[in-house]
Amino acid sequence: MRVLTGIQASGKLHIGNYFGAMKPMIELQEREELFTFIANYHSLTTSKDAALLRELTLDAAIDYLSLGINPDKTTFWVQSDVPEVLELYWILSKFTPMGLLERAHSYKDKVAKGIPANHALFSYPVLMAADILLMDTEKVPVGKDQIQHVEMTRDIAIKFNNEYGEIFTLPEYQVEDHIATIPGIDGQKMSKSYNNAIDIFMETEKKLQKRCNQILTTSTPLGEPLEYNGCHVYNLAALFLDDAGKSDLQRRYQSGEEGYGHFKKYLKELIWEEFAEAREKRAYYIEHPEVVREILNEGANKMRKIAAEKMRTVREVVGIL
Ligand code: ADP
Ligand code: TRP
Repeated sequence: MRVLTGIQASGKLHIGNYFGAMKPMIELQEREELFTFIANYHSLTTSKDAALLRELTLDAAIDYLSLGINPDKTTFWVQSDVPEVLELYWILSKFTPMGLLERAHSYKDKVAKGIPANHALFSYPVLMAADILLMDTEKVPVGKDQIQHVEMTRDIAIKFNNEYGEIFTLPEYQVEDHIATIPGIDGQKMSKSYNNAIDIFMETEKKLQKRCNQILTTSTPLGEPLEYNGCHVYNLAALFLDDAGKSDLQRRYQSGEEGYGHFKKYLKELIWEEFAEAREKRAYYIEHPEVVREILNEGANKMRKIAAEKMRTVREVVGIL
């Protein structure tokens, strides 16, 4: 099964991103033919700063490689390194009714948030359709906010196929409903916009401890048993533990011998340990950006072969010389 995921590079990754999006993706590469790219043309629609966009693109590549994207198993590239996608985007535009784009929730949401309404923002779903259709994607794992974009991709592909025969594969979206929403330090959904996130790559253990200490807890006097149910520290720690580890932590809560400070320290240790290997890899890639570039180039070369073949067919059926 050919699976495609697009990554918007948006800065520092937090634990919610890891458990909600990256870990499932990294597990997927063991079972499926995974294609993953950094959608920097999409990011351009909301970017204000060229240097920052470049930096975020490379940072995202480094973070994903460090956390487990394996270039021997997964084709990994940067969107703009496969320019065929822009040609397909233009051709698909002809099969995209204005009404379809006018109904897009994400466009309306972004404009409501004050992002200037321009054509790139408006036609964003057509570029996403091009990403997906260019390589005969069968499955697209997405968050709920992206379902409509995959549905629009199908509509565009159906219109095209009705005219020219079965050129494009119709993709299915896959929403991982069973994945829980990870709470932030205040118990609300962890999000970089809520200032409640715990970042994966904290510079020092001390800073990570400081962040863990900010997790909201009740004020139960030391010596009394603590309730682990509903405790944000427990809920976060549980993400890193197997069943035996969770039972053990529950016992520690109930014993009344330890306070929240102990559990916050334990959580810090769990997080620091979980990402120890990733931190080392990341330090290596930061020192050796040429290695990252090489991996991305290899991915792009592989993709360009697939893209060139598809575009030969598409050009021919629509009549481009
Ligand atoms: P943020 O809310 O920090 O801006 P994004 O919207 O960039 O995060 O999310 C990127 C990916 O991480 C999405 O697939 C999203 O579903 C996942 N994700 C983000 N926050 C959480 C969370 N608190 N719990 C589970 N998954 C999350
Ligand atoms: N729009 C997606 C997001 O914001 C990113 C994306 C771009 C994408 N092209 C894609 C995702 C193709 C899946 C397939 O998350």
